[in-house]
Parts: sequence; C-alpha cells; structure tokens
Amino acid sequence: MIKKVILGALLIGTAIVGKAQNKIAEHDIEGKMKWFEEAKLGIFIHAGIYSVADVSESWSFHNGTISVDDYMKQQNGYTLSKYDPAAWAEMIKDCGARYCVITTKHHDGVAMYNTKVGKLSAVKTCAAKKDMIKPFFEELRKREVKCGAYFSLIDWTHNDYPGYLKNKERYDIKKEPARWERFQKFFQGQIKEISDAFNPDLWWFDGDWEHSAEEWQAEKTRNMILEKNANTIINGRLQGYGDYDTPEQNFPVVRPAFKWWELCMTMNENWGYRVSDNNWKTPYEIITIFVDAVSNGGNLLLDIGPKPDGTYPEPVVSTLKELGDWNKRNGEGIFGTIPGIPQGHYYGPTTLSKDSKTLFLFVHGKTSGQVLLKGIDNKIQDITVLGSNVKLTHKVVGKISWSSVPGLVYIDLPETAIDKYVTCIKVTLDAPIKLYRGKGGFLTN
Ligand code: GLC
Repeated sequence: MIKKVILGALLIGTAIVGKAQNKIAEHDIEGKMKWFEEAKLGIFIHAGIYSVADVSESWSFHNGTISVDDYMKQQNGYTLSKYDPAAWAEMIKDCGARYCVITTKHHDGVAMYNTKVGKLSAVKTCAAKKDMIKPFFEELRKREVKCGAYFSLIDWTHNDYPGYLKNKERYDIKKEPARWERFQKFFQGQIKEISDAFNPDLWWFDGDWEHSAEEWQAEKTRNMILEKNANTIINGRLQGYGDYDTPEQNFPVVRPAFKWWELCMTMNENWGYRVSDNNWKTPYEIITIFVDAVSNGGNLLLDIGPKPDGTYPEPVVSTLKELGDWNKRNGEGIFGTIPGIPQGHYYGPTTLSKDSKTLFLFVHGKTSGQVLLKGIDNKIQDITVLGSNVKLTHKVVGKISWSSVPGLVYIDLPETAIDKYVTCIKVTLDAPIKLYRGKGGFLTN
C-alpha cells in the first residue's frame, strides 16, 4: 500500500528521485531523515585498486584508456599496508563530518569487504588480504559517525553483467534472461551480505542509469534493505526508489525544490586517488561551497581518495584539518540550523536557528566593512562574530517612523573580527524572523 510519496511531490524537475512518486511506502520518512538533515557534512571515500596506476576509477578500463588486464593487475599493488581505520575515523570526525560513505564496491566489481558471493575482493584477490570496511565502520561508530555504504549496481567485470567496455556489451538481457536473473541474484546477494555484516545507516547506490527500475528490481531491492533496517537511508540512484537527491559536482544556483539533497564533490578532480591529480580545491573554496550547500538546505559529501597503502595525500589531511578548525569556530551557524533567508535580503549565504530567532550571515573571504541586511522586520538584540565572540555594532538606515518599511541594517564588521576563510555573524532577533517584502505605506499599528 502506498502511504506516502517520498520525494516526488517535493520535486520540480529532478530526474532521479522524481520517479519515486506514487511508488514508495514509507513508515516515517521525516523521522528517518532527521539525522541526515542535521548532518550537513559527510565524507565520501573512493577506495579501490584504481589508486595504484594513476587511472580513473573503473571508467579507465571501461573507456579503454587502460586494458582490462592491466587494470586488474592493480590488485597486486593494492596493499593497504599502512591502513589505519582508527586514524581515518578520527580524521573524519575531527573535520566535523557526521557521516561517511565508502565504496564497498565500485563499477570494477572489486569488493572492499569480504564478499562470499563475489570472486573479486580486497580480501581474496588483492595484496591487502583484508576487509577494509569492517574495522572502518567499527571505528566510525565508536565516534558516532554514521556509516554509509556506496554500492555500484554496475559490475563491469562480472561475467553475468551485460555491460563491459564502452563499445562492447557481453549480451542482451532480452535474449538471455536467465543470465540476467543470475546477475540479479548476485548483486542482491552482495547487498544482503553488506546489510547483514554492516547494517549501513545509509546506502549510496551508483550506476542505476544502465538499467531500468524493473531490471534492477529496484522496489524489491529497496524493500529488502528496509526489512533489515527500516531506518536506513537510500540515496537517489536506485531508479526512483531513493530518499534524497544527489546532484553530482553540481552547485545549485537557487535553492533546489526537493527537500533532501546532497552535493557530492571531489576534493581535486578525481573520485579516487591519482598521483597526477594536483588540482586541489583550497580550504577557502571548499568552505564556501559547503556553506552554500547548507544555506540552500543541502549537505556536502566531500570526496577523498586514499593511496594504495591506505594513507592520504597531504592536501587531503591538511584541508580536512582546516575545515575541522573552521567548523569548530563556526559550527553553531551550520550544525543544527535550517536553511537561511531568500537571497535579496542579504547578498550571501545564511542559515537560521531552528526557532528562527537567530540569523547567521556568512561573509566570504577577507571582506570587512559594512554588511547590509534588508527587509528584516524584527528588532535586533545582539550581533556577534562566531569564533571570536566579538560584539558588533550596527546602524539602521532609512527607517521612517510612520512607514512599514523596516529600514536597512548596516552591520560594522571590523577587519580584526574576520575569519581567515568565511566569517559567520550571529544576529539574535527579538522573535522568529519576519521578512518584509512590501511596497511601503503607513504603519497600521
Ligand atoms: C559517478 C561515477 C562514479 C563515481 C560517482 C560518485 O556516478 O560513475 O565513478 O563513483 O559518480 O558520485
């Protein structure tokens, strides 16, 4: 029985989750999504054999930039010899992330956990000879970081999977339905293994675009997962059977119409580690993108990729440290907030406290001087800068006693009070925020 439309009604123009309309029964979607909505920051980890030979994750052999043989040989170099799951979890916790999503299996079919139903894994066919996921989830959970399992539906190296190379399919599922059924059993078997072994708080499917909802048996797959854990969250890449949308490397210009969304973004240009990729986003860029996502009601899922020995390149470590320090100074304006006020009242990102009595204004870069707020029909009780707690003065300009126009608020932000990346100004109001968008006129009271 369909009790509730998950995202469909909330969506305007989104391809993926929009298809969920009228299809999904859900016990308590709001309750289930609560932690996700409050999390704001997640770390995405693309761990896999592709880190060995400076190639892109799975796509490199699929697109023919490396032969399948050479690609698979990377398993011998995937040692994880310095893998320290506790240190990983610590680094993630420390940057302020509330959840982490790691590749349990990418499109190349090499599982990072100890799969019994699959042939390829970090345990059986890689030099590492170990399950990466088990100890990592344990360490995350010790630190109360939610655990997400990325799982690729596509499995380009599996003999029963129709897709293989860009220009070479294995077979047509219409002609060989039994073979496709074998594959369905296989991937669902892996999902069951992951459910049973790790009970993920979140499932991050990928690759659904190669087949339809019917072909993936998306509804059955979803139900199977929810039967095990009704509270687990499913991303929007299960052909319409997900809970939230995943705009990939896409920075929404205006607030997306759907309720739950997550921007997934690489820290450099690749999802996995590549020695040649040094085009790192700076801490400033990452923080501004993060703030932008949060102010528009989304989360940032920031991707990093470990080296084959299980360590991280220096820019990953230092950027996460900077992000964590920024969150420690400014977290009050991020975590536990709701999306801010519409653009036009303030020329920058904003958030609000849950009771809407506190407005947080984010000021980019080294900007100091007078910060302008427009159309706020409230009395301001107090203005401070997060981190330093410096009290700020302000001036109301253009307020006429008989007019309903609230006047412009100019807040003085001195150079000495600004954050090295993004400053957060906390404006305490007398009551829940009231936005003025009128045309002027006499006060009625
Ligand atoms: C794309 C790619 C994949 C990557 C994912 C992360 O779907 O196929 O390689 O893992 O994006 O969002």
